[in-house]
Amino acid sequence: MLVRPRRNRQNETIRSMVRETTLSTDQLIAPLFVVEGKNKIIPIDSMPGQARLSVDELIQEAKVLYSLGIKTVALFPVIEEKLKTPDAREAYNKDGLNFRAIQELKAALPEMMIMADVALDPYSSDGHDGLVDHKTGEIQNDATLEVLAKQALCEAMAGVDIIGPSDMMDGRVGFIRRALDESGFKNTLIMSYTAKYASAFYGPFREALDSAPKKGDKKTYQMDPANSQEALREGALDEDEGADILMVKPGLPYLDIIYRLKQSTYLPVAAYNVSGEYAMVKAAARNGWVDNDKVILETLTSFRRAGADIILTYFAKEAARLIHGV
Ligand code: PBG
Repeated sequence: MLVRPRRNRQNETIRSMVRETTLSTDQLIAPLFVVEGKNKIIPIDSMPGQARLSVDELIQEAKVLYSLGIKTVALFPVIEEKLKTPDAREAYNKDGLNFRAIQELKAALPEMMIMADVALDPYSSDGHDGLVDHKTGEIQNDATLEVLAKQALCEAMAGVDIIGPSDMMDGRVGFIRRALDESGFKNTLIMSYTAKYASAFYGPFREALDSAPKKGDKKTYQMDPANSQEALREGALDEDEGADILMVKPGLPYLDIIYRLKQSTYLPVAAYNVSGEYAMVKAAARNGWVDNDKVILETLTSFRRAGADIILTYFAKEAARLIHGV
Protein backbone atom coordinates (compact mmCIF):
# COMPACT_ATOMS: atom_id res chain seq x y z
CA MET A 1 0.00 0.00 0.00
CA LEU A 2 1.51 3.32 -1.07
CA VAL A 3 -1.35 5.50 0.01
CA ARG A 4 -2.22 5.52 3.69
CA PRO A 5 -4.65 8.31 4.71
CA ARG A 6 -4.09 7.34 8.36
CA ARG A 7 -0.57 8.85 8.28
CA ASN A 8 -2.20 12.26 8.43
CA ARG A 9 -4.22 11.22 11.48
CA GLN A 10 -1.54 9.61 13.64
CA ASN A 11 -1.21 12.31 16.29
CA GLU A 12 -2.84 15.59 17.30
CA THR A 13 -0.03 17.69 15.85
CA ILE A 14 -0.48 16.38 12.33
CA ARG A 15 -4.27 16.30 12.74
CA SER A 16 -4.39 19.94 13.76
CA MET A 17 -1.98 20.84 10.95
CA VAL A 18 -4.22 19.40 8.25
CA ARG A 19 -7.50 20.42 9.87
CA GLU A 20 -9.65 22.11 7.24
CA THR A 21 -12.20 23.83 9.43
CA THR A 22 -11.79 26.01 12.49
CA LEU A 23 -14.26 27.14 15.11
CA SER A 24 -13.78 30.35 17.04
CA THR A 25 -15.89 32.50 19.33
CA ASP A 26 -15.55 35.27 16.71
CA GLN A 27 -18.15 33.43 14.65
CA LEU A 28 -20.73 32.79 17.37
CA ILE A 29 -23.86 34.76 18.22
CA ALA A 30 -25.74 34.00 21.43
CA PRO A 31 -29.54 34.34 21.30
CA LEU A 32 -30.96 35.55 24.64
CA PHE A 33 -34.54 35.80 25.90
CA VAL A 34 -35.61 38.94 27.74
CA VAL A 35 -38.47 39.34 30.18
CA GLU A 36 -40.04 42.27 32.05
CA GLY A 37 -39.02 42.81 35.69
CA LYS A 38 -35.92 42.83 37.89
CA ASN A 39 -33.65 40.03 39.13
CA LYS A 40 -35.61 37.56 37.04
CA ILE A 41 -34.10 34.37 35.68
CA ILE A 42 -36.99 32.20 34.50
CA PRO A 43 -35.77 28.83 33.19
CA ILE A 44 -37.16 27.48 29.92
CA ASP A 45 -38.20 23.86 30.56
CA SER A 46 -37.59 22.60 27.05
CA MET A 47 -34.21 24.36 26.82
CA PRO A 48 -32.19 23.28 29.87
CA GLY A 49 -29.56 25.91 30.67
CA GLN A 50 -31.47 28.73 28.93
CA ALA A 51 -33.67 31.25 30.70
CA ARG A 52 -35.74 34.35 30.18
CA LEU A 53 -33.75 37.20 31.77
CA SER A 54 -34.87 40.58 33.06
CA VAL A 55 -32.80 43.43 31.60
CA ASP A 56 -30.47 43.69 34.64
CA GLU A 57 -29.72 39.96 34.41
CA LEU A 58 -29.38 40.24 30.63
CA ILE A 59 -26.64 42.81 31.12
CA GLN A 60 -24.81 40.53 33.57
CA GLU A 61 -25.08 37.59 31.18
CA ALA A 62 -23.89 39.71 28.25
CA LYS A 63 -20.82 40.75 30.26
CA VAL A 64 -19.97 37.11 30.94
CA LEU A 65 -20.44 36.25 27.28
CA TYR A 66 -18.27 39.16 26.20
CA SER A 67 -15.50 38.11 28.57
CA LEU A 68 -15.65 34.66 26.91
CA GLY A 69 -15.26 36.19 23.45
CA ILE A 70 -18.92 36.14 22.38
CA LYS A 71 -19.27 39.65 20.99
CA THR A 72 -22.76 39.55 19.49
CA VAL A 73 -26.08 38.68 21.10
CA ALA A 74 -29.52 38.35 19.51
CA LEU A 75 -32.35 39.50 21.76
CA PHE A 76 -35.83 37.96 21.90
CA PRO A 77 -38.31 39.72 24.20
CA VAL A 78 -41.14 37.87 25.95
CA ILE A 79 -44.14 40.15 25.46
CA GLU A 80 -46.89 40.13 28.05
CA GLU A 81 -50.15 38.67 26.74
CA LYS A 82 -52.06 41.88 27.49
CA LEU A 83 -49.79 43.85 25.15
CA LYS A 84 -50.38 41.56 22.17
CA THR A 85 -52.81 42.96 19.58
CA PRO A 86 -53.90 42.13 16.02
CA ASP A 87 -51.87 45.10 14.69
CA ALA A 88 -48.82 44.17 16.82
CA ARG A 89 -48.22 47.82 17.67
CA GLU A 90 -46.10 46.85 20.67
CA ALA A 91 -43.44 45.89 18.09
CA TYR A 92 -42.55 49.58 17.68
CA ASN A 93 -43.31 50.89 21.16
CA LYS A 94 -40.41 53.10 22.28
CA ASP A 95 -41.29 52.43 25.90
CA GLY A 96 -41.59 48.71 25.27
CA LEU A 97 -39.40 45.89 26.56
CA ASN A 98 -37.61 45.34 23.25
CA PHE A 99 -36.54 49.00 23.00
CA ARG A 100 -35.44 49.21 26.64
CA ALA A 101 -33.52 45.95 26.50
CA ILE A 102 -31.53 47.10 23.47
CA GLN A 103 -30.97 50.60 24.82
CA GLU A 104 -29.92 49.53 28.32
CA LEU A 105 -27.66 46.75 27.11
CA LYS A 106 -26.02 49.10 24.60
CA ALA A 107 -25.44 51.70 27.33
CA ALA A 108 -23.98 49.13 29.73
CA LEU A 109 -21.81 47.32 27.20
CA PRO A 110 -21.35 49.46 24.05
CA GLU A 111 -18.75 47.13 22.53
CA MET A 112 -21.25 44.24 22.41
CA MET A 113 -23.02 44.01 19.03
CA ILE A 114 -26.76 43.62 19.41
CA MET A 115 -28.99 41.89 16.91
CA ALA A 116 -32.78 42.11 17.03
CA ASP A 117 -35.47 40.23 15.13
CA VAL A 118 -37.95 41.90 12.87
CA ALA A 119 -41.20 39.89 12.80
CA LEU A 120 -44.55 40.39 14.47
CA ASP A 121 -45.16 37.02 16.12
CA PRO A 122 -44.00 37.90 19.66
CA TYR A 123 -46.23 41.01 19.59
CA SER A 124 -49.25 39.73 17.67
CA SER A 125 -52.37 38.32 19.33
CA ASP A 126 -52.53 36.01 16.29
CA GLY A 127 -49.02 34.68 16.84
CA HIS A 128 -48.15 35.22 13.18
CA ASP A 129 -45.12 37.00 11.74
CA GLY A 130 -47.39 39.14 9.57
CA LEU A 131 -50.75 40.86 9.91
CA VAL A 132 -53.73 38.52 9.60
CA ASP A 133 -56.78 39.36 7.53
CA HIS A 134 -59.41 37.95 9.86
CA LYS A 135 -61.99 37.54 7.08
CA THR A 136 -59.85 35.33 4.87
CA GLY A 137 -57.20 34.16 7.32
CA GLU A 138 -54.56 35.43 4.88
CA ILE A 139 -51.22 36.73 6.17
CA GLN A 140 -51.01 40.11 4.48
CA ASN A 141 -47.69 40.77 2.84
CA ASP A 142 -47.57 44.44 1.84
CA ALA A 143 -49.44 45.83 4.84
CA THR A 144 -47.03 43.92 7.09
CA LEU A 145 -44.02 45.61 5.47
CA GLU A 146 -45.08 48.97 6.90
CA VAL A 147 -45.17 47.55 10.43
CA LEU A 148 -41.87 45.73 9.99
CA ALA A 149 -40.21 48.97 8.87
CA LYS A 150 -41.54 50.74 11.98
CA GLN A 151 -40.22 47.91 14.14
CA ALA A 152 -36.80 48.04 12.46
CA LEU A 153 -36.61 51.81 12.92
CA CYS A 154 -37.58 51.49 16.55
CA GLU A 155 -34.80 48.95 17.09
CA ALA A 156 -32.30 51.11 15.21
CA MET A 157 -33.21 54.11 17.39
CA ALA A 158 -32.66 51.96 20.46
CA GLY A 159 -29.13 51.30 19.22
CA VAL A 160 -29.28 47.92 17.55
CA ASP A 161 -26.34 46.96 15.32
CA ILE A 162 -27.93 44.16 13.28
CA ILE A 163 -31.52 43.87 12.14
CA GLY A 164 -32.70 40.29 11.54
CA PRO A 165 -35.87 40.14 9.45
CA SER A 166 -37.27 36.71 10.36
CA ASP A 167 -40.78 37.20 8.99
CA MET A 168 -40.33 35.87 5.41
CA MET A 169 -42.61 38.49 3.84
CA ASP A 170 -41.72 39.21 0.20
CA GLY A 171 -39.72 42.38 -0.35
CA ARG A 172 -39.07 43.06 3.31
CA VAL A 173 -35.29 43.37 3.16
CA GLY A 174 -35.44 46.16 0.56
CA PHE A 175 -38.33 47.84 2.32
CA ILE A 176 -36.49 47.84 5.65
CA ARG A 177 -33.17 48.88 4.04
CA ARG A 178 -34.86 51.94 2.47
CA ALA A 179 -36.60 52.86 5.72
CA LEU A 180 -33.32 52.61 7.64
CA ASP A 181 -31.37 54.63 5.07
CA GLU A 182 -34.02 57.35 4.88
CA SER A 183 -33.76 57.81 8.65
CA GLY A 184 -29.99 57.96 8.62
CA PHE A 185 -29.27 54.41 9.78
CA LYS A 186 -27.00 53.64 6.85
CA ASN A 187 -24.64 51.51 8.92
CA THR A 188 -27.24 49.29 10.56
CA LEU A 189 -26.58 45.80 9.22
CA ILE A 190 -29.27 43.49 7.90
CA MET A 191 -28.81 39.78 8.51
CA SER A 192 -31.71 38.36 6.59
CA TYR A 193 -33.39 35.12 7.58
CA THR A 194 -33.08 34.27 3.89
CA ALA A 195 -34.05 30.63 3.88
CA LYS A 196 -36.30 30.20 6.87
CA TYR A 197 -38.19 26.94 6.74
CA ALA A 198 -41.64 26.11 8.14
CA SER A 199 -40.01 23.86 10.71
CA ALA A 200 -41.12 21.89 13.75
CA PHE A 201 -37.72 22.62 15.31
CA TYR A 202 -38.90 26.04 16.59
CA GLY A 203 -41.14 24.43 19.23
CA PRO A 204 -39.11 25.28 22.36
CA PHE A 205 -38.58 28.89 21.17
CA ARG A 206 -42.32 29.38 20.78
CA GLU A 207 -42.78 27.94 24.26
CA ALA A 208 -40.18 30.38 25.64
CA LEU A 209 -41.99 33.38 24.13
CA ASP A 210 -45.48 31.89 24.19
CA SER A 211 -45.61 32.95 20.54
CA ALA A 212 -47.09 29.96 18.68
CA PRO A 213 -49.69 30.83 16.00
CA LYS A 214 -53.18 30.84 17.48
CA LYS A 215 -54.58 29.49 14.21
CA GLY A 216 -53.02 27.61 11.34
CA ASP A 217 -49.32 27.36 10.58
CA LYS A 218 -46.62 29.44 8.92
CA LYS A 219 -46.48 27.54 5.63
CA THR A 220 -47.73 30.42 3.46
CA TYR A 221 -44.63 32.44 4.29
CA GLN A 222 -41.92 30.15 5.68
CA MET A 223 -40.33 27.77 3.19
CA ASP A 224 -41.23 24.17 2.43
CA PRO A 225 -38.60 21.86 3.98
CA ALA A 226 -38.62 19.90 0.71
CA ASN A 227 -37.16 22.81 -1.30
CA SER A 228 -33.63 23.96 -1.98
CA GLN A 229 -33.73 25.84 -5.32
CA GLU A 230 -36.09 28.25 -3.61
CA ALA A 231 -33.43 29.04 -0.99
CA LEU A 232 -31.11 30.24 -3.76
CA ARG A 233 -33.92 32.32 -5.23
CA GLU A 234 -34.54 33.95 -1.83
CA GLY A 235 -30.79 34.50 -1.49
CA ALA A 236 -30.56 36.29 -4.84
CA LEU A 237 -33.48 38.54 -3.89
CA ASP A 238 -32.06 39.40 -0.47
CA GLU A 239 -28.72 40.23 -2.06
CA ASP A 240 -30.39 42.59 -4.53
CA GLU A 241 -32.41 44.16 -1.72
CA GLY A 242 -29.29 45.06 0.24
CA ALA A 243 -28.87 42.29 2.80
CA ASP A 244 -25.40 42.19 4.35
CA ILE A 245 -25.51 38.60 5.59
CA LEU A 246 -27.72 35.68 4.53
CA MET A 247 -29.00 33.20 7.07
CA VAL A 248 -30.31 29.64 6.88
CA LYS A 249 -32.66 28.37 9.56
CA PRO A 250 -32.91 25.76 11.08
CA GLY A 251 -29.32 24.57 10.96
CA LEU A 252 -28.46 20.89 11.19
CA PRO A 253 -31.28 19.48 9.02
CA TYR A 254 -30.37 22.11 6.39
CA LEU A 255 -26.58 21.79 6.04
CA ASP A 256 -27.06 21.19 2.31
CA ILE A 257 -28.82 24.55 2.02
CA ILE A 258 -25.98 26.30 3.88
CA TYR A 259 -23.52 24.67 1.50
CA ARG A 260 -25.43 25.58 -1.65
CA LEU A 261 -26.15 29.13 -0.55
CA LYS A 262 -22.48 29.65 0.31
CA GLN A 263 -21.51 28.46 -3.19
CA SER A 264 -23.99 30.85 -4.80
CA THR A 265 -23.19 34.15 -3.02
CA TYR A 266 -20.32 36.44 -2.13
CA LEU A 267 -22.11 37.47 1.06
CA PRO A 268 -21.30 35.89 4.43
CA VAL A 269 -23.67 33.08 5.33
CA ALA A 270 -25.01 32.43 8.82
CA ALA A 271 -26.66 29.32 10.25
CA TYR A 272 -29.25 29.38 13.03
CA ASN A 273 -28.84 26.30 15.24
CA VAL A 274 -32.40 26.57 16.56
CA SER A 275 -34.17 25.79 19.83
CA GLY A 276 -35.33 22.28 18.86
CA GLU A 277 -31.80 21.30 17.86
CA TYR A 278 -30.56 22.54 21.23
CA ALA A 279 -33.33 20.70 23.08
CA MET A 280 -32.54 17.39 21.37
CA VAL A 281 -28.86 17.50 22.33
CA LYS A 282 -29.69 18.51 25.90
CA ALA A 283 -32.30 15.77 26.28
CA ALA A 284 -29.95 13.08 25.00
CA ALA A 285 -27.01 14.37 27.05
CA ARG A 286 -29.09 14.46 30.23
CA ASN A 287 -29.97 10.84 29.70
CA GLY A 288 -26.31 10.02 29.29
CA TRP A 289 -26.97 8.96 25.69
CA VAL A 290 -24.48 11.36 24.08
CA ASP A 291 -21.51 13.37 25.35
CA ASN A 292 -22.77 16.97 25.68
CA ASP A 293 -19.44 18.75 25.11
CA LYS A 294 -18.29 16.62 22.20
CA VAL A 295 -21.65 16.84 20.46
CA ILE A 296 -21.66 20.63 20.80
CA LEU A 297 -18.25 21.04 19.20
CA GLU A 298 -19.00 18.48 16.48
CA THR A 299 -22.30 20.20 15.68
CA LEU A 300 -20.80 23.68 15.47
CA THR A 301 -17.85 22.42 13.42
CA SER A 302 -20.27 20.82 10.95
CA PHE A 303 -21.88 24.22 10.32
CA ARG A 304 -18.48 25.69 9.58
CA ARG A 305 -17.56 22.76 7.31
CA ALA A 306 -20.82 23.24 5.39
CA GLY A 307 -19.81 26.85 4.74
CA ALA A 308 -21.38 28.89 7.52
CA ASP A 309 -19.30 31.94 8.41
CA ILE A 310 -21.47 32.73 11.42
CA ILE A 311 -23.48 30.54 13.80
CA LEU A 312 -26.36 31.64 16.00
CA THR A 313 -26.49 29.07 18.76
CA TYR A 314 -27.81 28.59 22.27
CA PHE A 315 -24.58 26.64 22.84
CA ALA A 316 -22.51 29.84 22.41
CA LYS A 317 -21.48 30.15 26.06
CA GLU A 318 -20.74 26.47 26.54
CA ALA A 319 -18.84 26.38 23.25
CA ALA A 320 -16.78 29.42 24.27
CA ARG A 321 -15.78 27.66 27.50
CA LEU A 322 -14.86 24.52 25.57
CA ILE A 323 -12.90 26.44 22.93
CA HIS A 324 -10.95 28.41 25.56
CA GLY A 325 -10.71 25.51 28.00
CA VAL A 326 -12.20 27.49 30.92
C1 PBG B 1 -39.75 34.70 14.99
C2 PBG B 1 -38.65 33.73 15.22
C3 PBG B 1 -38.73 32.35 15.44
C4 PBG B 1 -37.43 31.92 15.71
C5 PBG B 1 -36.60 33.04 15.59
N1 PBG B 1 -37.36 34.15 15.28
C6 PBG B 1 -39.90 31.45 15.55
C7 PBG B 1 -40.82 31.28 14.41
O1 PBG B 1 -40.62 31.77 13.31
O2 PBG B 1 -41.86 30.65 14.64
C8 PBG B 1 -37.04 30.52 16.07
C9 PBG B 1 -35.74 30.37 16.80
C10 PBG B 1 -35.54 29.06 17.45
O3 PBG B 1 -36.34 28.11 17.35
O4 PBG B 1 -34.51 28.93 18.13
N2 PBG B 1 -40.24 34.79 13.70
